[in-house]
Amino acid sequence: MNDLHASLLGGPPTLSVGVMSADLLHLGDAINEVSSAGVRLAHVDVIDGVFCPGLSAGAPFVAAVARSAVPDVHLMVADPLAAAEEHVAAGAGVVTFHLEATRHPHRLLQSLAGRGVVRGVALNPGTPIASLEPLLDELELVLLLAVNPGWGGQSHIETTPRRLEQVRALAGSRPVAVGIDGGVTKANIGRIAALEPDLIVAGSAVFSGNGPAAAARELLDEIDRAHGGGNGGEHA
Ligand code: DX5
Ligand code: ZN
Repeated sequence: MNDLHASLLGGPPTLSVGVMSADLLHLGDAINEVSSAGVRLAHVDVIDGVFCPGLSAGAPFVAAVARSAVPDVHLMVADPLAAAEEHVAAGAGVVTFHLEATRHPHRLLQSLAGRGVVRGVALNPGTPIASLEPLLDELELVLLLAVNPGWGGQSHIETTPRRLEQVRALAGSRPVAVGIDGGVTKANIGRIAALEPDLIVAGSAVFSGNGPAAAARELLDEIDRAHGGGNGGEHA
């Protein structure tokens, strides 16, 4: 288990900030601002316009993010087998691909073993949790999409509590972290954090207000409140 994986397990949920919602022409400033609030993970949505609508950025962008934060790379691409390696090489700390995007999820997870990354498998809201079962000994993170992939700023799909429970039941005692991605806001993050996920992704809630640092701190405060002030320290 690498340090990042270990830091996700136990304790309050780790906040990963969706940087594709930032002012991309001032990305370095934006990452420095959320880092000043104690956030270390930068969630990068790599979207190819084939797996889902939209077109974002790839490995060169991740390499730039890696200079200021730990990239939490979310591959929303139709061929993650082809894309994963260059994102590992770009400095990703987490590489998450979609189960729906490949016929060979087990092989892709095996290829990422021992590469120093947290291996994540993401599920769209309509994909049954049971489909993860054969992979649970090969992955470190399950990322539950609480929006249909492609855009930030959507409303949170309220099936998360049930799906989180299903993952926990299926994973049993395995050291599998569970993340929630999409539609997280200041208004709902306390309720989401109370479900005790290990990772929460928030994009537009951080970058659509009056300053990323203040917004990130508000979200972290809500997480800490949901955990009875579990930690005032840095977040992974
Ligand atoms: C959805 C992405 C999410 C989304 C998060 O396609 O995987 O990471 O951008 O953005 P918000 O927090 O604005 O829903
Ligand atoms: Zn994402």
